[in-house]
Amino acid sequence: MSEPEQKRIEDILKGEREVFKPSPEIVKNANIPDRSVVTAEAEEDFVKFWEERAKALEWYEPWDKVLDDSEAPFFKWFVNAKTNIVHNAIDRHLKTHRRNKIALIWEGENGDQVTMSYFRLNREVCKFANVLKSMGVKRGDRVTIYMGRVPELVIAMLATVKIGAMHSVVYGGFSTEALAERIEDARSRVLVTCDGAFLRGKVVNLKEIANEAVGRAGYVEHVVTVKRTGHDVEMEEGRDYWYHDLMSLPIASATCETEVMDAEDPLFILYTSGTTGKPKGVLHTHGGYQVHVSTTLSWVFDIKDDDRYWCAADPGWITGHSYIVYAPLILGTTSLLFEGAPNYPYPDRWWNLVEKYGINILYTAPTAIRGLMRFGDSWPERHDLSSLRIIGTVGEPINPEAWKWYHRVIGKEKCPIMDTWWQTETGGFMITPLPETPLKPGSGTKPFPGVFADVVRENGESCEPNEDGYLVLKKPWPGMLRTVYGDPDRYVEQYWSNFKEQGWYFTGDSARKDEDGYFWIIGRMDDVIKVSGYRLGTAEIESALVSHPSISEAAVIAVPDDVKGNVIHAFCIPTTGANPASEDELKLHVRKEMGPIAVPAKIEIVDSLPKTRSGKIMRRVLRAKAMGEPVGDLSTLAD
Ligand code: WT7
Repeated sequence: MSEPEQKRIEDILKGEREVFKPSPEIVKNANIPDRSVVTAEAEEDFVKFWEERAKALEWYEPWDKVLDDSEAPFFKWFVNAKTNIVHNAIDRHLKTHRRNKIALIWEGENGDQVTMSYFRLNREVCKFANVLKSMGVKRGDRVTIYMGRVPELVIAMLATVKIGAMHSVVYGGFSTEALAERIEDARSRVLVTCDGAFLRGKVVNLKEIANEAVGRAGYVEHVVTVKRTGHDVEMEEGRDYWYHDLMSLPIASATCETEVMDAEDPLFILYTSGTTGKPKGVLHTHGGYQVHVSTTLSWVFDIKDDDRYWCAADPGWITGHSYIVYAPLILGTTSLLFEGAPNYPYPDRWWNLVEKYGINILYTAPTAIRGLMRFGDSWPERHDLSSLRIIGTVGEPINPEAWKWYHRVIGKEKCPIMDTWWQTETGGFMITPLPETPLKPGSGTKPFPGVFADVVRENGESCEPNEDGYLVLKKPWPGMLRTVYGDPDRYVEQYWSNFKEQGWYFTGDSARKDEDGYFWIIGRMDDVIKVSGYRLGTAEIESALVSHPSISEAAVIAVPDDVKGNVIHAFCIPTTGANPASEDELKLHVRKEMGPIAVPAKIEIVDSLPKTRSGKIMRRVLRAKAMGEPVGDLSTLAD
C-alpha cells in the first residue's frame, strides 16, 4: 500500500473513535427502535426471521420452504412461492390509498418536471409491457436498457419484469464496447435507449453509441428510442422505433396482466467488474430480493408513509435498482429522480432540490459529498434543509472529514448517517447502522439483523479486534445473487472458493472489526478499482487500451484522490514498430470504448512492465513508481 493510501485508511480506522448518538426523538419514532431485540430474534433462527419479513409482502402462492440449501452455494429462497416483484411494487398499491399517491417525482437537468402517481405509473408500465410483448418479448428473455436518468427508464425496467422477462440495465455513462459486450453476453433482442441525455448542459449522444454497439454485438432486432434531447439521430428502418410512437398505438393498451413467476425465477442481470476478464452478469431473482430490499430500506432509512425519499444514485447501478426502483416502490414511497449532475448549473443544485421537494431522506456516495464539500458551506447554507431526517452514504469508505461535514452542514447534527456496506452481489444492505445505532464516522457499524458477517484469517479463524482480515458472509441471505448469468462455474469460483470448506461467501473486501464489534471496511483485495464509487475492473480498462492499434500491452492501477477516492493510472507498451498515440488520443479512445468513468487520469508509455516470473503484473511496483516511492522487495520480479 502506498503512503497516502495507508494514511487515508489509518485516518479512517484509528484517528476516529468519537461516537455520535442519535437523538431520543429519532430513536423513539424509528420503525425499529431497538436493534438488539431484532438481532436476538435473527440470531436465534435466521430462516424464521426472514420468513417473518416475507409476510409483509403479498404472494400469489405461499412457499413450501423458506430456504433450500441442498445444492449450496446455489441457494433457493421461498421455494415454490409464486410472485412477481411488480405486484408488490405497483399492483397491490392500486387497491389502497396509495393509488393516487405520488410514486415518482422527476426533475430534468434543464428544469423539466414530471410527477407520476402509482395509478399513472401502472398505466405507463402496462402500456410499455404491451409494446414489448408486441415485439415478441416473453418470459425469460433479456431486454437491455441503456438510458439517461429519465422516468421511462424506470417504466422500461418494470414493464420488462411485469411480463416475466429480465432487464439488463447498462449505465448511461458506459460507452460502445462496454454496451456491446453486455448486449452480447445477455443475447438481448430488444434494446431500449434515448436519443440523448443532458449532462452539465451538454448532450450525451446515447443513440449514436447504441447504434454502434448494436452493430458490433449482433442479436438486437428492435431498438426503442425515447426522445429526450430532440437532436437528430440515425434511425434504421425496420429496427428502430420511437417510444412515443409505439406508446400511442392501439397495441399499447393500458391493461396488462402481471406474469405469475416462481420466487426463484430470474428478475434481472446487472453486469459488474470482477478480478479478471469480462464483467460478470450478476443474477437476482424475484422472491428473496424483494424481501431483502424492502425490509432493509424500511428499517435503515426508516421510511414513513408521508416521507419524500431521494436516492441520488443512478438507476443503472445496483444502488438504483434496489433503492431507487424496487424497494421504495414496494414500500409505497414517494421518490425523487434527478437527471443531472450535483453541481450544475451551480454547486447548490442538490440543496435546491432538497428544499424544493421537501426531501426527508437523502442517500448518496462519499465522492459526491467530498465533491460538494469543496465548494464550501455557503451553498448548502443558502437553502432550508430542515426537512432532512436521515441521510446515508454508500459505495466506498467515507473519510471522517467528509462524514463530519455531511453530518454538520447537511444533517445539521440531527440526522443520523446510514453508512451502508453492500455489493451488487448482495442485492441489498448488509452492514449498516439503524437509526438508533450509535455511530462512529467511517464505520458501517454492524451486520443487518439476519446477516452473518465476520472478518477472518486465511484459515477461517476469526480475527482479533482491529486485526485486518477477509470480510466474509457466513450464512446465505435472501437478496443474494443466485449465479453469474450463463457461467455457474464462475459463480462458484469467484465467491465460494476462498472458504470452500466452511461454505462461506467471500466479498473481495478486507476489513477490521473493532473492540465494540463495529466493522471498518479497508478496501478491495482484488483487481477491482473504485473511481468515484464506480466499480471498474483493471482488466476491462487494460483491454480498452490495447484495443488501440498502437498499444500492445497495458497495466492500470489505482492512485488515491481526494475527491474521487481513486483515479486510474495506466502504463502502456507500444506495439513494435508503431509510434504510440498521444496521451490525449489514448484517453479519447478509452472514453469511446468504455466510457468517461474509465478514462485514466494519466497514461505513461513504458518499454516494459514489472512482472513476476509467472507473468503476473506487479501492480505494487507500478503504484510505487506512480507515487514516487521506494519500490520495496523486488526479489520476485522476472527481470
Ligand atoms: C464494493 C461493492 C452496493 C452499492 C454500491 C457499490 C465497496 C460499498 C461501502 C461502504 C466501504 C463500501 C466495497 C464493496 N463499498 N459500500 N459503505 N463502505 N466500502 O456496489 O459497485 O458492487 O461495489 O463497494 O468495496 O465490495 P458495487
